[in-house]
Amino acid sequence: LASTATAIDEFLGCLSADIPSGLIQTPATPSSYSALLLSTARNLRYILPDTSKPLGIIAATEHAHAQTTVRCGRRHGVRVRVRSGGHDYEGLSYASVHLHNHNEPFAVLDLAALRAIHVDPARAEAWAESGATVGELYYAVGAASRSLGFPAGSCPTMGVGGHLSGGGFGSLARKYGLSADNVLDAVVVDADGRLMNRSSMGEDHFWALRGGGGESFGVVLSWKVRLVPVPETVTVFSIVRSRNQSAIELITKWQEMAPASPQELYLRVLVLNQQANFQALFLGRCGGLYRLMQDHFPELGMTEQDCEEVSWVQSTVFFGFSTTSVPPEQLLNRSSNPSYYLKAKSDHVQEPIPRDVWEIIWTAWLEKPEAALLMLDPYGGVMSSIPPSETPFPHRQGNLYQLQYYSFWYENGTAAAEKRISWVRGLYKEMEPYVSSNPRAVYVNYRDLDLGTNELDGDVTSYEKARVSWGDKYFKGNFKRLAAVKTMVDPHDFFRNEQSIPPLPAAK
Ligand code: FDA
Repeated sequence: LASTATAIDEFLGCLSADIPSGLIQTPATPSSYSALLLSTARNLRYILPDTSKPLGIIAATEHAHAQTTVRCGRRHGVRVRVRSGGHDYEGLSYASVHLHNHNEPFAVLDLAALRAIHVDPARAEAWAESGATVGELYYAVGAASRSLGFPAGSCPTMGVGGHLSGGGFGSLARKYGLSADNVLDAVVVDADGRLMNRSSMGEDHFWALRGGGGESFGVVLSWKVRLVPVPETVTVFSIVRSRNQSAIELITKWQEMAPASPQELYLRVLVLNQQANFQALFLGRCGGLYRLMQDHFPELGMTEQDCEEVSWVQSTVFFGFSTTSVPPEQLLNRSSNPSYYLKAKSDHVQEPIPRDVWEIIWTAWLEKPEAALLMLDPYGGVMSSIPPSETPFPHRQGNLYQLQYYSFWYENGTAAAEKRISWVRGLYKEMEPYVSSNPRAVYVNYRDLDLGTNELDGDVTSYEKARVSWGDKYFKGNFKRLAAVKTMVDPHDFFRNEQSIPPLPAAK
């Protein structure tokens, strides 16, 4: 492990043999280093002065740059953190919080410039490089065909690289599953700096890439994905209800209705500023949606005036920007400068939460000024029929919905941070009796370091510590298989961070 200035110099020297110096930024040139570091660092909490920062950032423009970075890192003992879109909730792609109770020097391999997308509408497939944003992918698919879509999340500036590595949940999940369920091939730089694809890496490694969380299994440079059929016209709505307009009753009913409804409907709820916003995507026209809502959820009081009929790509604009009135070109806006501090936690709900509990949540928690945004995302549909071991993402049948406590704030200073974070932690604690247990399951793309961070066992990450603190919660029965794949593809544990998959313990 590099701990000396000499080792770091040797690492940088090794890089410069293959990578133009203009693509490597170090703290020696503070303004360009800082501009690159901040370019996609999304969470202000992890760019504070006391956060441990990379000793260098490599802005790769060719696949060979990623290979060189891994090889030089291995040779000179500098770890490499991969960054695609920089949206990691805990900043793991550009900052180190506390790893193994000491700071390991690391470099960031930034893939933002590797963002080519090729859509083949005739085969209903696309290749997307990891540095492309989800919004760019949506735009390219929409430009190629009005009747194809791709299942992924709502924030357009997320990177394809991290998003697909952890799963990728969004408005098409009930019909077509996660992004990771629709990955057909991938190009990866392994821990020896070799380029691999699905046939050369083998099915176990390929399985682990599709939901095992970023970083652990190598640098994914590009992804081949399956595009899915969508109607040329789909329908969205946004209906806001306050407490006086029966918001609590509606949420109570929604818990059973939304996960059981036909797969063509995705109806999520966002609760913010004491208002519940019911946002829908329906794979069909307004008339069909109206009839479905009359049959399944008349209490919401939806009318045909609430409908907006749009193309599928415009529905991604709706979920990304909460409006359909901006053009799809807005999906190409990559600017995601850190704008707020963020702390989130999440749960899976398996039994409807009783109405009186929602009443308490509303009055004791949501009415506080420091309350976070609650996001309720329905499962069911095809999510329930995909076996839990099909990909590393295990949260399938038996889950009604995912509940996220997402706090964001703009004020600087520790007092504001403490207030917001303790609100999130407090509600999370209070919710324990009403959510999944043994383990209390969490989606790895909603990364949460409160669950625990890795510790070393000799030179490698401790399997047992990782399993107990966060492994079972993110991956349930798939954790051991992920560790077995890690043992096979990265036995020296080169690709690691606070919650990377450890190798299996060596037989004693
Ligand atoms: P980032 O670059 O920070 O990487 C995340 C992790 O993956 C890091 O550990 C990184 O090292 C690793 N990694 C990145 N690129 C890699 C690569 N090419 N190869 C190997 N490892 C790589 N999720 C969801 O499912 N649905 C949603 O709707 C949303 N919405 C959402 C909104 C907002 C505002 C945020 C901040 C986040 C979300 N998410 C989400 C969560 C999101 O899916 C998650 O943070 C992804 O990991 C982000 O991917 P990025 O490439 O942007 O992150």
